[in-house]
Amino acid sequence: MFNSAFLDLPPLEEARGTVILPGSKSISNRVLLLAALCEGPTVVHDLLESDDTRVMLQGLRVLGCEVVHRGSAVRITGIGGRPHPGPPPGGEGVKKLFLGNAGTAMRPLTAALALIGGDYELSGVARMHERPIGDLVDALRQLGCGIDYLGNEGFPPLRIRPARDLKLDAAIQVRGDVSSQFLTALLLALPLVATRDIVIEVVGQLISRPYIEITLNLLRRFGIAVARQDWQRFTIPAGSRYQSPGEVHVEADASSASYFVALGALAASADQPLRIEGVGASSIQGDIRFIEAARAMGATVDSGPNWLQVSRGAWPLRALDLDCNHIPDAAMTLAVMALFADGPTTLRNIASWRVKETDRLAAMAAELRKLGAVVDEGPDSLRIVPPATWQAAAIATYDDHRMAMCFALAAFNFAGAHVRILDPHCVAKTFPDYFETLFSVSRTSAPHIPVICVDGPTASGKGTLASEVARRLGYHYLDSGALYRITGVATLRAGLPLDVEHEHSIARLAEALAIVFTGDRVLLAGEDVTDAIRSEAAGMNASRVSALPAVRTALVALQQSFRRLPGLVADGRDMGTVIFPDAGLKVYLTASAAQRAERRHKQLISKGIPATLPALRADLEARDARDSSRAVAPLKPAQDALLLDNSSHAVEESVALVLRWWEEKQPFGQALEA
Ligand code: DC
Repeated sequence: MFNSAFLDLPPLEEARGTVILPGSKSISNRVLLLAALCEGPTVVHDLLESDDTRVMLQGLRVLGCEVVHRGSAVRITGIGGRPHPGPPPGGEGVKKLFLGNAGTAMRPLTAALALIGGDYELSGVARMHERPIGDLVDALRQLGCGIDYLGNEGFPPLRIRPARDLKLDAAIQVRGDVSSQFLTALLLALPLVATRDIVIEVVGQLISRPYIEITLNLLRRFGIAVARQDWQRFTIPAGSRYQSPGEVHVEADASSASYFVALGALAASADQPLRIEGVGASSIQGDIRFIEAARAMGATVDSGPNWLQVSRGAWPLRALDLDCNHIPDAAMTLAVMALFADGPTTLRNIASWRVKETDRLAAMAAELRKLGAVVDEGPDSLRIVPPATWQAAAIATYDDHRMAMCFALAAFNFAGAHVRILDPHCVAKTFPDYFETLFSVSRTSAPHIPVICVDGPTASGKGTLASEVARRLGYHYLDSGALYRITGVATLRAGLPLDVEHEHSIARLAEALAIVFTGDRVLLAGEDVTDAIRSEAAGMNASRVSALPAVRTALVALQQSFRRLPGLVADGRDMGTVIFPDAGLKVYLTASAAQRAERRHKQLISKGIPATLPALRADLEARDARDSSRAVAPLKPAQDALLLDNSSHAVEESVALVLRWWEEKQPFGQALEA
């Protein structure tokens, strides 16, 4: 997960490999609710783990369902249509459910709770309170459900009271032209009270029909056979009862697949197509039809029941004029593909975009323009003329996961324009590891991958500074000193003396080190050596092996292999001079010997390790002397390094300064201030 304020994507060139996608949001939340309404347990496999499913699970717990995680499966014990007896957690009579920005939780839970009976308060984030629910509430009120608005008429938050004397004889009317989730909510919940045939009539044109198909399909799996006449009239037969299928497998998310289908079309070669696993031709999700649109734009797509393989076909992509009503979510991906087309692309019938996580029509138009596209925003359509000249852009994401995910693809613009994604963590709504997955199949030449070097003497605070800068940028972090420290430890363990006569044996050993960095731990051949390499003695030994030229050479490739997307911050002695001479920013960090000795002293004492200031200072100066006088890669600032004496700086000041230096080199300056 990227928790940084922004994520900078350097120019990306090629895509290949395999992605395994997370579970479908639409299927996950429907299955969870259906499992909750059944009697007894249902085991759900491959459930999507994301913000939207988390709030749904939380909602089910409040209802009284038992939720047990077992590895990648979740076991839900349903309440059989009856609310949990006894007072809710918190004591008072009203059960409160906070549902974030999950429409797939808010709408169906409203219907289910209103029919189950009980006192509930349903709320969400501010945007959730701007997303309409009035048509669903109207439909439920016709039945006799007690629902009040706690804020604005027609919008959450809602107060639900026990229903009295449900009127099930007349057909229930619901509008179908604002959100298909209203109909889905009724279809999922009404079997709870199907003592007689219940008829739902859709008023107005039904949009996003494929989502209703998912609903009907899943209802069938849970024992409810809804009869449908066209897409206007749905009948839930008298006596319908939810029956758990026992186990359910959630297929991967077809909307999430759209980003990788597009990626294949942009940047995978025919001989090495991008493979997508977890969803394919036999998917029950409407967004799988995105592949037809992608093919129309030029993608070459092969498919099996639960996999897809995609590569570039026509290039540039072919412009498109398409009614997107059947693929409302995946159509956002088409809007970004349109940037790569041979003419203007028009996406029609997408008014529902306005009531999604954000007003997606306005948001999409504004952000596409930043990249250089000319965009006409209609009331329910978008016309996109590809950029004549690509511009670097900082893309706002409006707390909308799909904005972040589809705009990341713009980094493949082949014009070298950088793309910054603001608030990248919004992808957590449906695909928390989206960027990691994207990077795992994206390639670009090493010089494109940004590197920041922080070199300097021992105890200058490099590690603290560099790792914090890495965290703020969402970049990888390399503590190169650790590699020399580990080499020292491994040498002694192998019974070799740390001297020049054994230089080549030590170098061979260094070359074969099985090092893994996980979080803040370091493993050597599976053993946690984090603490062992941090001692003063280990530092001194590291300094000794690091003076051996063959050892330094042996570690070059390993250090350079840390240069991975989206970028790297590396600290050490020769990061800027030897390992990454082309780094975009080189910082040489110093502090007075007295200051450094004092910092080290504090560090050791706080860990309960005895130390004296004069001894530490003497050690430190001896190490400086060896590190800067050795024949190869001596400690010295790179010619183009910026000097930073942090003797009198708090860490935060140094971090802010380095981030400012970095920002000054980025092409987003004005965009960020705007
Ligand atoms: O940064 P540190 O204290 O963990 O480094 C331990 C020793 O490793 C240091 O005294 C010199 C050596 N080193 C080096 O020669 N080159 C590097 N890039 C990093 C560390």
